[in-house]
Formats: sequence, structure tokens, C-alpha cells
Amino acid sequence: MAGHAALRCDFLLRLLTSSRSIQTLLWNRAVFGRNVESICSRTFSTASIRSNQDDGQSSDSMQTQRQAHLFRRRRSLSPLERISSLLPEDALSPEVMQLRGKEQQEERCDPVIVTEEDCLQTQRDPDAVEEPNATGFQRAGGQVHPCLLGESLLSFGELLIAEFRKKRRVEFRKMFQLQPGARLHSSWGVIMHDDLEGQPAGRFMKTSRGVPIFFRRASLEDYVLHMKRGPAISYPKDAANMLLMMDVMEGDCVLESGSGSGAMSLFLSRAVGSKGSVLSVEVREDHHRRSLKNFERWRTSWALRRGQEWPENVEFQNADLCTASSLLAGRGFHSVALDLIHPHLVLPVVLPHLHPGGVCATYLANITQVIDLLEGLRCSELPFLCERIVEVPVRDWMVAPALQKDGQYCARKAPDLGEPLRSEEEASVGADEEDGVGPAFGSVPYIARPHPEQMSHTAFLVKLRKFVK
Ligand SMILES: C[S@@+](CC[C@H](N)C(=O)[O-])C[C@H]1O[C@@H](n2cnc3c(N)ncnc32)[C@H](O)[C@@H]1O
Repeated sequence: MAGHAALRCDFLLRLLTSSRSIQTLLWNRAVFGRNVESICSRTFSTASIRSNQDDGQSSDSMQTQRQAHLFRRRRSLSPLERISSLLPEDALSPEVMQLRGKEQQEERCDPVIVTEEDCLQTQRDPDAVEEPNATGFQRAGGQVHPCLLGESLLSFGELLIAEFRKKRRVEFRKMFQLQPGARLHSSWGVIMHDDLEGQPAGRFMKTSRGVPIFFRRASLEDYVLHMKRGPAISYPKDAANMLLMMDVMEGDCVLESGSGSGAMSLFLSRAVGSKGSVLSVEVREDHHRRSLKNFERWRTSWALRRGQEWPENVEFQNADLCTASSLLAGRGFHSVALDLIHPHLVLPVVLPHLHPGGVCATYLANITQVIDLLEGLRCSELPFLCERIVEVPVRDWMVAPALQKDGQYCARKAPDLGEPLRSEEEASVGADEEDGVGPAFGSVPYIARPHPEQMSHTAFLVKLRKFVK
């Protein structure tokens, strides 16, 4: 019996070392082993690096590791591999031994490269190998944070918003650029910029006086509201509605005037994207320079934040639109945005360059200007239909649980039905509060009313559509 087994072993051994297909198998396994080895070494080399660029690499390598781990876990052994694993070590060829060594090395790598979060992700997404999720992870302050493509930890040069809210009011809000060695001063204490660098956006940091300030990246709305101004800007709520009126989309060619501080130029730039273009005409040289500066500052900050360029799709021109026929010669526009005192004076110049059926959206602060515009159109008989005149009200509300003067929640008062409150109900309300959960769901009255601080009137928007006679 023993002799028979030895003979079978010998046969299998010869089969293993001579078969051509096994050579191929060995080669494939060795290449796979080398790949896993390189994956492991990349993991160890990036784990402790915290720069933005390296975070991207780190999240890439984590993704690769997760895939390698899953690939290896799912791969079933071939019949020959199963047989080779049954053989004693001294009966195996050096190639097979090398293969086994690689396998052990892979196993040593696994506990380091696969985080608990990765495993959870894998369990949730059984198709992760075939279609890897675009979301990676980044580490900060000992925690793993999801990292979207193009979003990374805060870096110097970025534009941030610092905010402190107290009693449902914004007490402090400031936009600033993150700079090495700089400090953020406020009545609530100081924060070093160096302490913010490398942190995820959207977190609270305590000042020197222990006050928690919230930090986040500036949105485009934040930016135009806080950037240095020349003249008054088109407010974001109105700019958004003008984009709707004009039906601006990616790839459009748009004419804008005046450039002013450059707020509308930025919204238009984002709407038309890298395939589109905006011509922005401004009569005053100082305003022309201001709009250019504001546009460039946003682009620089964007490139740092996203690692990609904001499109350079706005052409700022210092000229009077009333006399800019030569500048517009040969150009056509899908739509026009006007924010200047006398729009009816520039319409004759703009008209030939606006596509038939295209919209000219006009931003006017006073209703008397709207009347002048309509009267100008009536007298000049320009082919524009006035489709709408709107004001865009945005009303902030305050909705929050009602609190007593001592900071405790108020209690919702039930009508007196003549029956005493059951003692167990009273006990359960008390127990909730002791747990720190607060009163039970629905038992707290709310205050809900328009916020005392509201944005006042900004503008009237007039939608003019060009028609063909
Ligand atoms: C209120 S600002 C525009 C603000 C701009 N929409 C923004 O969001 O920053 C109006 C601008 O129009 C410019 N302007 C007035 N008449 C003009 C004209 N005929 N041609 C070009 N610009 C003109 C003014 O110099 C001023 O800078």
C-alpha cells in the first residue's frame, strides 16, 4: 500500500515538473506574486505621507490593494494546485517552493493592507472588483475619511470660510486664504493656519480661547459674496435665475456687460464650461481690472483644491458696449446678460449678434429703470419680446426647538383633559433626559418664523427674447 502511494507521488511529481502547462501556470503565479509584492511595498511606502498629492496616491493604492485582496480571495485553486498542496515539501521542485513562499508573503501583507472599512465596503458592494468605486479614503487625525475624486485635505493657498454660530445666528464669518505661518484672528481667539493645513474640509477647530470655529472650503457663492468688490455684484440668487432665463448650457457662447466685480462672469464661466466662452465687456478700466483679478484668484484657488484647471473661458474687454460694434463683429451669442444702468442704449448694438429666439436677461436695481427699458424698446421698435419681469425673493427662516431661559427644552403642553398624567409616562420622559437623548420625539414645541435678518431687495430681472419680424 505504502509502495503504491510512493509510486503515485513520484508520478505526480514528474507530472508537476515536466508539464508545459504547469510551467505556464508557474510563470503566471510568479508574475502575480511579483505584482502583489509591489502592491505591498507601495502600501508601506505611502502609509505615513500626508501631502495632497500623496493622499491621492495613497487612496489609489488602497483601491488597488482592495482589488488585489478580493481577486486573490475569489480565485479558486486549479486541480493541479490542489494536488501540489497535498505533497510533502521535500517532494516539490524549487519553483513550486518559491510559489508557496509568495503565497505566505501575500498572507503576511493582507492584515496591513485591508482596513475594516475596506471590508465593510466590500461586503456592501459585491461587484467591487469588476467596477471599482470611484470613492477612496484619506486619513487625518487618526480617522479614515471618504475622499472624492479631486477633493483632498486642506492645503496652503486654498480659500476657506471660517464660521462661528451662536444661538442660531452667525456671529462671525470670514473668507481667508490658507498661508504658512499666518494666524486667523477673531474676537473668539486665534487659530494658526498651520494647524488647518492637512485637515479635512468641514470640521470644527478650537481657537486659543477654546471656541469651536467651523472651517470649510469657499463655494462659488461664498467667494463672490466675500471677494473684493468694485461695483455691486449680481447677487447669487439673481445670477442663478438669470442663468435659468438664458437657458445657459455647456458649450454656449455668451455676451456679458458690464463685468463690474466679475461675479456674474464666474457664474457664466461655470455654466458654459470648457467648451463654451464668455465675452465680458466693461467700460471702466478699474472695474475691468477688478473683475480680471477676482476671476484669476478663484481659478488659482480652484486649481489647488481640485488639482485641475478652471476653464480659462472668459475674455474680459475694456470697452463701452454702446460703441463696441467692431469688437462684436463676426461673433454670435446664444444669450446675453446685461447688468448696467441703461441697457436700452446697448440693445441696438447687441441685437445683430444674438441668435434669433435667444434671450437677453437684464439685471436692474430699480423699477424705474425697468420702465425706461420698456419705453426704450417701444420707441426703438427693436424685435424683443418682454417675457417676464421678476423679483427673486429668498426668505430665510428660523426653525428650532424652543428653549427655556435656562437652556432646557420647553415641554409641549397638552390640553387639560381632566385626567392626571400617568406616572409611567412621566418617568419615561425623565429617563430620556437623563440619558442625554432629550425629550421624546414630538414632545418639544418648535419656534418657526422668518429670520429677523433678511436680505433686502436686490434687483428686478427682465427677460427679453429676440424675435424675427
Ligand atoms: C453693477 S456693475 C456689474 C456687476 C457685475 N454684474 C458683477 O456681478 O460683478 C455695472 C457695471 O457696468 C459697467 N457699465 C455701465 N455702462 C456700460 C457700458 N455702456 N459698457 C460697458 N460697461 C458698462 C459699469 O462700469 C459697472 O462696472
